[in-house]
Parts: sequence; C-alpha cells; structure tokens
Amino acid sequence: MDINILKQTVQALLAPTKGILAADESSGTIKKRFEKIGLESSPDTNLAYRKMLFTTPGIEEYLSGIILFDETIRQSIDGKSVSEYLESKGIIPGIKVDKGAVDLPNFPDEKITEGLDGLKARLEEYAGMGAKFAKWRAVIKIGEGIPTDTCLYSNAEVLARYAAITQNAGLVPIIEPEVIRDGSHDLKKDAEVTAEALKAVFERIAAHKIALEGLILKTNMVTAGEDNPNQASPDEVAKATIDAFLESVPKELPGIVFLSGGQPPEMATDNLNTISKIGGPWELSFSFARALQGEAMELWAGKDENLESAQKAFLERAKKVSLARAGKL
Ligand code: 13P
Repeated sequence: MDINILKQTVQALLAPTKGILAADESSGTIKKRFEKIGLESSPDTNLAYRKMLFTTPGIEEYLSGIILFDETIRQSIDGKSVSEYLESKGIIPGIKVDKGAVDLPNFPDEKITEGLDGLKARLEEYAGMGAKFAKWRAVIKIGEGIPTDTCLYSNAEVLARYAAITQNAGLVPIIEPEVIRDGSHDLKKDAEVTAEALKAVFERIAAHKIALEGLILKTNMVTAGEDNPNQASPDEVAKATIDAFLESVPKELPGIVFLSGGQPPEMATDNLNTISKIGGPWELSFSFARALQGEAMELWAGKDENLESAQKAFLERAKKVSLARAGKL
C-alpha cells in the first residue's frame, strides 16, 4: 500500500467546488428507477443513460469522481473504456464493490451488507480497469427497538474489513454507513442513531488500523424521517448533522461526502449549503445519486431527442450543488 497515492486520490476527490456522482445503481435499482420513466433496463439502455450523464459538456467542472457499477466499468464510450473516457475528462473512476444488503439473521428488519469474499481479487481486476476508489454501503434503519447494537457493530466490522482490503489493494475506500430516511422518527432520534452508527464505524476502523488520511466517509445528513410531518429546517439539519459528526468522526479524517438519501434535489441542495456554511475540521462535499440525476432522468426518459434538455438540467443541478458545497448558494 502506497499511502501517498491514496492521499493524492483523496485530495483530488475532495477538490474544492467539485464532488462525486454516484452512478452505481445496481441492476435491481436502475430497473426500478427506469420503471418510473417507462423504460426497460438492459445493458444497452443503462449505458445510454449513463452516457447521457457522463458526456454532458462541462460536467467535469463540478465532478471530481464518478462511482460506477460492475456492468458500467466493463462498457465503452466513444471507443474508450468508460474509465478511460472519464479520465480523459479529468474525472476519477470509482467502483461499487459491495454485493448489496441482505436480512441480518435473527434481527427482523435489519440488514447486513455482503461482498467480502473474493473482494481482493475483484479489486485487483477493477484497479486494472482503471478504478482508483471504491464504495461500500451499509444500511441502518430506525424503528421500534432498532437499530440494535448487533446491527451497528456487524456493519461497522464489515465496513472496516472492506476498508482494510481496499487500501491494501491501492484504492481509496469510501465507507458508507447510511441511516435511511424511512420512518416517522424525529430529528433528535436521527441525530442519536447517526452518531451511534458512526462511533461504531470509527471504533472498528481504528481496530483494523485503517489509515484515516486514505479514507473518505460517505453518510447521511441528519434529517427527520420522511414520514414525519415536522421536517426540520436547513438550519436545524445543519446543526444536528455537524454536532453528530463532532461527537463521532475523528477530526483527522480528510473528508465527509453526503448521500442525498431520497431528499428532493432542492432540499438536499439547500441542506448541503447550510451544512457547508457551518463546516467542521473535515472537507465537506457531496456524493449524490438521486439529487443530482433525478431531474435529468425524468427529462431524458430514454429518448434521444431529450438528450440536450436532460444534460442541461444535469449541468444546472451539478452547478447548484457545487455552489452549495462551498456554502455559496
Ligand atoms: P442517493 O444520493 O440517491 O441517496 O444515493 C447515494 C448512494 O450512493 C447510495 O449508495
């Protein structure tokens, strides 16, 4: 492991004014997203969609990296592999390496993420295909009596093991514990659970001797559950989010990037803007999927004639999110 290479990748991913696009929807997720726009998912339609996003003129001004799915990293754009194409635009290719969340046995409604078996060999193959960083997502749900400590610590342990394998393969691990927005819990509960989940993660990260300077945390903003009629204001979200991080995330960690978690694009952008204004000892940035792509996907709807308007919407959203990342919206 060359820590200097990992550090360089981390610094490039956290470049000011830029962030990461999560375009790593698994086959099942992209199928669901396409159903909403009346399009059938196939390797060809999936590529047409990703090509619409990646070839948007000027998008490289706002994106430092893009997280790909296994299918996409094996595809080509304009005669180049997708990784080569992104590199040619100055965008760093990354890869989702977890194999998804499955039921945690004996713990109803809780999940554990799979994918450690054979991970080293898969990372070596992805590195050969140009990937410089990886992502692994863990799902934490709030409900009656959950999350349990078993769920938090099982996922934290797996995230730390993934991070160790990934750093040793020469790629930067993005660890993504996500407290999902499902449910009607309030902001305070979300703040408590987020801090607990992150404490568990960084305890295991320390135990596995992960180099913090070669690591990025991707996590949720602290919000009320999506079914709670009392949604918190951006000021409340920002304060609760930064306070939860100060309690649980080592200040030596170089950066934290946010997922959008199903927040509508405007809400995610406004919340990011307010969080960035407060700031903290870490670089704060974005790694949205839905909040960056949602508007463009609807406009595109699988039709070539909509390409330009979809790309325009994508670029406009990316620009706003980039301004929000600097607290300058
Ligand atoms: P959302 O921004 O849509 O939550 O997706 C981020 C992500 O990468 C989920 O793993």
